Formats: sequence, C-alpha cells, structure tokens
Amino acid sequence: MTSLSTSTTGAGKSAVPLNPDKAIRIQRANEYPHEVWFFLACLIALVAVSRLLSFVCSKVSRHNGLSSQDPEKSSSHSKAVVNFRNLPLALINLFRVVAFRFTLDFGSYSLNLTEVILTLMYMAALFTWTFINTTNVSGGKFDVSYWSNRAGALIASQIPLITALGTKNNIITFITGVPYEKLNYLHRMAARVVFVLVWVHAGAKVSSKDPDELDQTWLRCGILAASSLTSLCIISVRPVRSRAYEFFFYTHLVLVLLFLVGAYRHSEEFSYQTYVWPSFVIWGVDRIVRVFRLVVFNHSYFGFGSGAGTALDATTELLTPKCVRLTLKRPPHFKWAPGQVAYLITPGVSSLPFESHPFTIASYDSQMSLKEITSSAASTDSDLNSTPTTSSYWKELVFLINVQEGFTKRLGDIAARKGSVKVYIDGPYGCSHNSNLHDTIVLIAGGTGVSHTLPILLNTIEGVQNGKSACKRVTFIWCIRDSRNINWISSVLAKALSITPDSLKVDVRIFVTGSDVPDLGYELPEATPSTSSVGCAQTPVSEKAPKTIAFGNQCDDLIENFPSLSSLAPFRSVTMMQGRPSLATLLQGEAEETRGGSMWVTVCGSRSIASAVRKGLRFPVAGPSTLLRGGATVSLHVESFGYA
Ligand SMILES: Cc1cc2nc3c(=O)[nH]c(=O)nc-3n(C[C@H](O)[C@H](O)[C@H](O)COP(=O)(O)OP(=O)(O)OC[C@H]3O[C@@H](n4cnc5c(N)ncnc54)[C@H](O)[C@@H]3O)c2cc1C
Ligand SMILES: NC(=O)c1ccc[n+]([C@@H]2O[C@H](COP(=O)([O-])OP(=O)(O)OC[C@H]3O[C@@H](n4cnc5c(N)ncnc54)[C@H](OP(=O)(O)O)[C@@H]3O)[C@@H](O)[C@H]2O)c1
Repeated sequence: MTSLSTSTTGAGKSAVPLNPDKAIRIQRANEYPHEVWFFLACLIALVAVSRLLSFVCSKVSRHNGLSSQDPEKSSSHSKAVVNFRNLPLALINLFRVVAFRFTLDFGSYSLNLTEVILTLMYMAALFTWTFINTTNVSGGKFDVSYWSNRAGALIASQIPLITALGTKNNIITFITGVPYEKLNYLHRMAARVVFVLVWVHAGAKVSSKDPDELDQTWLRCGILAASSLTSLCIISVRPVRSRAYEFFFYTHLVLVLLFLVGAYRHSEEFSYQTYVWPSFVIWGVDRIVRVFRLVVFNHSYFGFGSGAGTALDATTELLTPKCVRLTLKRPPHFKWAPGQVAYLITPGVSSLPFESHPFTIASYDSQMSLKEITSSAASTDSDLNSTPTTSSYWKELVFLINVQEGFTKRLGDIAARKGSVKVYIDGPYGCSHNSNLHDTIVLIAGGTGVSHTLPILLNTIEGVQNGKSACKRVTFIWCIRDSRNINWISSVLAKALSITPDSLKVDVRIFVTGSDVPDLGYELPEATPSTSSVGCAQTPVSEKAPKTIAFGNQCDDLIENFPSLSSLAPFRSVTMMQGRPSLATLLQGEAEETRGGSMWVTVCGSRSIASAVRKGLRFPVAGPSTLLRGGATVSLHVESFGYA
C-alpha cells in the first residue's frame, strides 16, 4: 500500500502526495490489532497466574489449618480475636466472593461480576482501539477513513480468539485451566461484540461506497461474512438454543463456515487474511483431537482389537419415569476425573447424523480392583456384593439421564424395555477438581445434578482410605422432587458409606421437595416439631421447615414398603427430610465447623439452587472479618449446563 495517489490537476496528471492521512491510518490499522492482542495475552496470563496462586493458597491454607493447634480455632467466631496473619487469605476470600458470588440478574440471565467486568473490558478495548487517534492531519475528529478499515482489521484479529473460545480442546483452557464450558460464555460475548463492530465497519463503508464496487468479489465476500455473522448471532440466542438445539447446532456449523470463508476472502484484499486462516487450524485441531479420541476409545467399533462391535454396548434401565441409567464398560484407555463430562454418540437413537449429547459421568474411576471393591463392602448388605450395577459406579461408565423431549425421550423408551444401545464416547471434558486439599467438602446437588457430586464423594472416600486426602468431613446434600428418586443411587451410597474410614465423617442429607408426595405404599409417622428424627408426613413445600427421617432408627415399616431405602437403613449418618433446605443456614453451620481450615463447596443443579449457594457463601460466611478471626477459607465450584 502507498501513501501516494494520482490526481488530475489543471494542466495534466502528476504524482503528488495527495493524501497524507493514508500512511498514518494504514500504520495504525496494522498496529492496533497487535496492541489488542497484547492486552488480551496479558489478561490470559493474569488469569493463569491467579488460578495458580489460588491453588497454592488452598495448599498453604490446608497446611496451616492442619498444623495449627491454635485454641482460637475452637472458639466461636464472635469471640475470636483478629489475627493479621490471616490477611492474605482474607483478601483471597474477599476476591472470590466479589468476583464470583455476586451476580447481576436480567430475567433468566445471570452474570457474575467477573463476567460483567470481562465483557465491559472487552467492549472497551475493541471500541477504544477502533476510535482513538482518528483525528486527521487537517484536525477533523473521528475521520471515518481512519476508523472504518481499522475496525475491519480489529474484527479479523478477533476471529481466532472467538474460534478458540468455542472449541472443546483449546489452548486457552490449556494455559489457564479454565474449562471449556466456562469459556463458552466468553465465546458468545466476544462474537456479539465483534458483530456490533462488523456493522460499525459495514455502516461506514455503505455510506461511502461506489455501487459499482458491488461487482467486486472481495466486497461480496464481506457482505456474505457480515450476513452470516448476523444470522449466527440471531440463532444463538438462548430461547433458540434451548428449544431447538439441533437446529442451532447445524445452522451454526454452516454459518460459521460461510462466515470464515467470506471473512478470509474479504480480508485478503487488505492483507489481513493471516488473522483469519488460524481459525481453520484451531477448528481443525479440535476436530482431529476429538476424532482421535473417538477412534482410541471406541476402536473396537472400527475393527481393531478383540470383541469388535460389542465393547461399547450400553445397558439402559428406567430407574424412575424420568431417569435413565446408562451403563457401559469403560474403554481400556478411558480415564476421567470426578465431575467430568462425556459426549454420547448413539446412532441407533439419534435422529440426525453427528448428534452427540453431553452427560456427566456419574461413576468414579477407582484405583481399587473390582475384588477390593466388592470385598470391602461391609457385611451390612450382602446384596451389594452381588449387584453388578453397584460396583460399576467404581469401575465402569455410568450416566444418570433426565428424560426430556428429544434424544433422551427415545432413550427412555428403550430403557423401559431394558434395551441396549451402541454408544461411541467422546471425552472426557470439563474440570477436574482436587478435592484432596480440603478439610471439609460440601456437595450440593439438585436432581440429576447428583451425577456431578456422587463421583466426588466416592473419590474423597477412596482418597482418605489411601492417605491421599486429609478431608475430615463430607456433607452430601441432595434435593429431589420425588422420594422414589433415592432409588437412583441408594445402593451406591450405602456401599460408599460402608467403606468409609472412621477418620472421615460423611453426612448424607436428602431433601424431598415435591409437594405431591407419591403413594409409596407406607404410612409415615407424624412429624413432631420438637424432634428432627421422625416423620415425613406430607408437608407443603412452602413450609420450609424440613421434617426428618433419620436412618438407623426404627424405620422398619418404611423399609419394608420401600425396599430401595433398605440399603441405607443401617446408616445413622443418612437423613431424609421433606421441603427445601435452607442452604444458607446449612453452609454457615459447615463453615463454623471448619474454623481454621478450608472448606470446598460444589453445587450442581438448577440455576435456582446454584444461586442459593452463591448467596449463602457471601458475607459474613466468607467475608474478611470472619477470615481474620480464623474462619474457614471457602472455595466454591458451580457446575451448570449454562453454556448449552
Ligand atoms: C456439561 C453438561 C453436562 C450435562 N450432564 C447431564 C447429566 O448428567 N444428566 C442429564 O440428564 N443431562 C445432562 N446434561 C443435559 C443433557 O445434555 C441434555 O438434557 C440432553 O442433551 C437433552 O437431549 P434431548 O434431545 O432429549 O433434549 P431436548 O428435549 O431437545 O432439549 C432439552 C434441553 O437440552 C438441551 N440440549 C439438547 N441437545 C443438546 C446437546 N446436544 N448438547 C447440549 N444441550 C443439549 C437443549 O438446549 C434444551 O435446553 C448436561 C449438559 C451439559 C452441557
Ligand atoms: N454437569 C452439569 O452441569 C449437570 C449435570 C446434571 C444436572 N445438571 C442440572 O441439574 C438440574 C437438575 O434437573 P432435574 O430435572 O434432574 O432436577 P429437578 O427435578 O429440577 O430437581 C431439582 C431439585 O433441586 C431443588 N431446588 C431447586 N432450587 C433450590 C433451592 N434454591 N434450594 C434448595 N433446593 C432447590 C428442587 O426443589 P423444588 O422442587 O422446590 O424446586 C428440586 O428438588 C438441571 O437444571 C440440570 O441442568 C447439571
């Protein structure tokens, strides 16, 4: 490109530097995308360092908590004196509360402060770099020729970032440790900000273009890219994603391809295509990794190894009318951490090609041998040792699947016949937690959210058994609408409790929230307000005070009529209550118990339950004044289907 242009002046043509602005604006249009990237790289590095620091702090706080024999620990929060040695922990907890537990709610949309700040920063960065230094040499402010092409360059520069944020195997997750599903919000947000910038760029061009230029391929490609991105942003809104996911999925795929091809050809005209082609590489690498995993984990389907075609036959059972348990033998190289997710591809059940559905792996990848697992079950329930579905929670892949309208409904029909289905498995994906670092673990689940918390419980028990975890207490809170849902995991819970070492206190609290308690075929004792150990009479959900059955008591009638509870009967540590729990009160109690140590809370369920937990872990529970007085360090993980 040149700053010289030719013009006809009076007597003839002469080459004169007519446009002194040109060199300046080209130089800025080339330089500013680099500056934006430098800024984004610093932000990514900052996140990586913060997560590392947070990890180190958890380790340090655990060490302090374990070694400290401070008598202050046992005194109550209000009496304890301020100890400024706890200042770093107090500040970290303050940051966690402010950054992740305060949310801005817009209808059904909820953003935490980190998401809000990142959105504002990203918008500010792109628009500032678009519009700064746009005064031309004659003093004209916001000269369109300065910012319109620069906006185009900035758009092109953001395409690889948006692509990376939307893929499952991406470098940002690798660097920062933030799981891909948490990055998905940023993928959508960045795409929407760029969409606005595309129309700023296009609007400026429309007003200044000669209509003849519409013949030009590069311009037509720009229009194709802009309209594809616009359609993408429209079909990606949540109502479309939640009502017609498959429609969203396929149109997204086609529109992204059109957008990338259009953007590449358009930016080639200005030599900015080097920003666009990496997106094809990023997308391609993600696909290659996924295909590679598919082949490795499902190789028997492809005719390699023994037992071709049979290894990934999954069994299905309809545990309750709305819940399918799908169990499949783990592929030999498939390893996963508690809380991770796998995509199930079941061509026999799906209606469309390439259909895959994510489900949390409800089982635990145990290091124990099958013999150890079956023999370690206490003599409390001889059935457990002979029930393959129970031991499969320690060895095989188990999924608890909520029956909805599409794929899961068809799966439910198969499960009703106890049919088997062929499954290809892609994964595992998502975060892996290091729950071994904490003194207290509080696991909170709503409905099928238990598929996230159950493997963490099994992992903690095994970690304490083999000395890898110093956890002392686990409180397992599970809210279900229908008491029959206990059936989903009752035998696994019983087995887990039977192998729990004495050094670990496991407290299981099940809350049945449905106002419409089904006829279970048994009479429950009347609830008495003075005691929390009897009764489960029908209680309107609005009466939030829970009524309790404590297992290990005289629940013979109940158990006789409701056999799935029999396995839990010997355990006094299991309680069943009716009504929603007051999560804030429960969490406050847990934090008090953990004074001087570290407490980790994880919640998986609806938005409502997640928001109740966030609220319960703000101030004063995890506030600086509590921490300075020796209160527990509290970390929280919220698992949700937020990105879908
Ligand atoms: C990370 C993650 C973990 C999950 N874990 C579980 C689990 O352990 N147990 C469980 O029951 N469900 C889980 N889900 C939800 C489960 O993936 C969907 O309920 C299932 O795919 C719905 O299929 P369907 O065709 O019957 O849905 P539909 O009835 O068509 O739609 C129901 C809902 O599921 C969403 N959905 C549909 N297809 C997909 C898809 N391919 N990917 C993502 N969302 C989709 C829709 O947007 C809609 O909100 C998880 C989802 C995510 C994102
Ligand atoms: N990995 C993941 O991200 C993952 C995995 C599995 C499931 N999930 C999510 O988990 C949810 C489970 O859905 P589901 O249909 O299986 O369950 P469900 O039938 O909706 O049950 C949820 C339970 O949680 C209770 N609950 C809701 N808000 C609460 C609050 N604020 N305090 C206390 N209890 C509360 C409900 O009580 P009420 O009856 O009073 O409402 C109900 O008992 C879904 O939203 C799903 O997206 C996520």
